[in-house]
This record gives sequence, C-alpha cells and structure tokens, in this order.
Amino acid sequence: MKMNIALLKGDGIGPEIINEAVKVLNAVGKKFGHTFEYTDLPIGGYAIDNYGLPLPDETVAGCKAADAVMLGAVGGPKWDAMPPEKRPEKGLLGIRKALSLYANLRPVKLFPPLAFASPIRADIRDKGIDLVIVRELTGGIYFGKKSESVSGGRAVALDECVYSEEEIDRLLKVGFELAGSRGKKICLVDKANVLKTSALWRKRFYEIGGNYPDIEKSVMLVDNAAMQLVRAPYAFDVIVTENMFGDILSDEAAVLTGSIGLIPSASLGEGGFGLYEPIHGSAPDIAGTGKANPVATILSAAMMTGTTFGLKAEAKAVENAVAAALTKYRTADVYTGAEKLVSTSEMGDAVAALLENN
Ligand code: IPM
Ligand code: MG
Repeated sequence: MKMNIALLKGDGIGPEIINEAVKVLNAVGKKFGHTFEYTDLPIGGYAIDNYGLPLPDETVAGCKAADAVMLGAVGGPKWDAMPPEKRPEKGLLGIRKALSLYANLRPVKLFPPLAFASPIRADIRDKGIDLVIVRELTGGIYFGKKSESVSGGRAVALDECVYSEEEIDRLLKVGFELAGSRGKKICLVDKANVLKTSALWRKRFYEIGGNYPDIEKSVMLVDNAAMQLVRAPYAFDVIVTENMFGDILSDEAAVLTGSIGLIPSASLGEGGFGLYEPIHGSAPDIAGTGKANPVATILSAAMMTGTTFGLKAEAKAVENAVAAALTKYRTADVYTGAEKLVSTSEMGDAVAALLENN
C-alpha cells in the first residue's frame, strides 16, 4: 500500500512528537511492505508567523489531496494576545470544518501499568476504565453566529448554538456503529431539561436507536455525566454528545487515566477520511527539551493505520510495541523510577525497534 500523509506539525512540542510518529510509521512500512509519503503543511502559530494566518489555503488543499492527516498541536503564549480570528486555535477549528471532520473519537482506556498516575481511587479504577467519547466536531456553539454589541452602554456578547437533524443523525450513527463493535452500550449526554438543541438530540437518539435493538441505550444530563465519570467511570462504554459537552467531558475523562500523554484521537469525515492527533496540547513549557511523551501521537498514527487505511494488523503491532516499550522505558511524565528514563526521540526509537523486531 502506498499512502500520502499530510503532516500538520504546528506549535510547541507538535513537531517533536510528529517526528516520532513518522519514525514509527516508517518502521511499519519497512516491516509490512508499505510506503508512506509525507507532506508538511503549516498550521496554527507557525502559520501565523510565516503566512500571516492560522490556516493557509495551501494547507486545506494539501490535506484534501492526502489520504489522511496527522496533527501535532497548535497554540502557545506567543499568540495569546491575538484577536480570535488570528489565533492558532482558529486553524484547528478551521481545518476540522474545511475537511468536514464531524465525528471526533476520543478513546479513554486505563493502561494498568500506569494506573498509579490516575487520580481515581484504586477500588474504582480497578473495575476498569475503557470508554470512547464520540464528540460532534463541526457544529453547535463553536461554529454558530457570534456577535458583540452594546446595550445601555454595557457590552453584550452572543454565541449561537445551532444543530440540524442531519448533523445530529450522522454523528449518532457513528456512535451506534462504534458501540456495536465494542461493549454494546451507548449513552447520550445532553442538557435536554434546558436546551432546545439537546431536546432534538434526544429525539433523534431514540429514533436512530430504533435501528440498533441490541445496543443498550441511556441518556444523561451533562452535569450528572461530569459527576458519574468520576464516581463510576467503569459504567460507560460509548458516550455520544455535542461539540462543547464533548470538549469538556473529554478532558475530564482523559485525566481519569492519569496519563494525558497517552491518549490518541481521530476526527473522521465521510468515507473513512480522517485527521489524527493526540488530545494533549502544545505544551510550550517543555518544547525543545526532549521531555514530551510521543506515545499519544504514535497511538494516533496507529488509529490512522487501522481506521483510514484499514490496516488492522499493522495498527495492532504499533499498539503492542507501545505497550512493550512502556514496560521498560518512560518519558518523565509517567516515570516511576523503575524504568529507564528516556527522551522524546529515544521513546520513538524504542517503539520503532520493538515493532521491527517482533
Ligand atoms: C480540543 C481543543 C480545541 C477544541 C480548541 C483548541 C479549539 O480544546 O481539541 O478539544 O475546543 O476543540
Ligand atoms: Mg478540548
């Protein structure tokens, strides 16, 4: 197989962690006989500095021409004072919209050797944490009309939240299909006691759910969901939810595992096309120090291999190599003293070597 991958390295630790994912992808290519070609494209603060805007047209065109996209991270204090239209985050929101990447999958799984880093009590986490948040990514309040005005001499701001049945249905289908392929349980998170959009989500959830009789369905208000994720995370399998609730809950869910540096994500559009990125940010404080954990990005590359390229054995091989590497080597964020403390690139080397030699 020959694949062209667009690389949006971005800011902070973005370039360092993407380089390690490329190293591991090249090891996959060597072992399994595939060719991966890469095209670097500017996004975020790097694009602002060099092209004057966070998402140049050539980046959108280059991503559309590629078979899949990998993204590092965007943002940093350098651009914090910029107006919203010129901030690095706008590049990320813009590329999701431009590529119609409406379904964001954020798997949260407790990796037993790293359970010590979880803030959750042992008796609760020992019941297992293995859930996926399926977040709507191109609609809702993040993309609604925005305005500022003045009323009675005081400032007023508006963010509109809009959802169409079409946007809701296609996301729900991704959630139900995913639940069917795993624990056969799905929970819709909404705020249907207050919001019109949530009431529509709930109506569509039961309607579409009728096509999936073997899947256990539940609904939960978002405030309660925030609590239940900490109280009983083992009770969740697939969570489907709108954009903002998914943004908030996925950070909460990620920290349950204690190691945000390990969690990959996929943002999917039609036909299996996708953008893959770690869920952590650009960590400008450690950029260039070799301290960044490349595992979330390497696992994102594994997700890309298995999902967009359909190479399941290759994806599994990367996951196994990561698990094996973590028994012996650790970057500082998950180091306990019992393993060898390694840098970003040494961790990538270890995963690549274990992959090739297994
Ligand atoms: C995320 C991030 C982004 C989002 C920001 C950087 C715009 O928090 O991917 O979760 O809110 O979607
Ligand atoms: Mg977020």
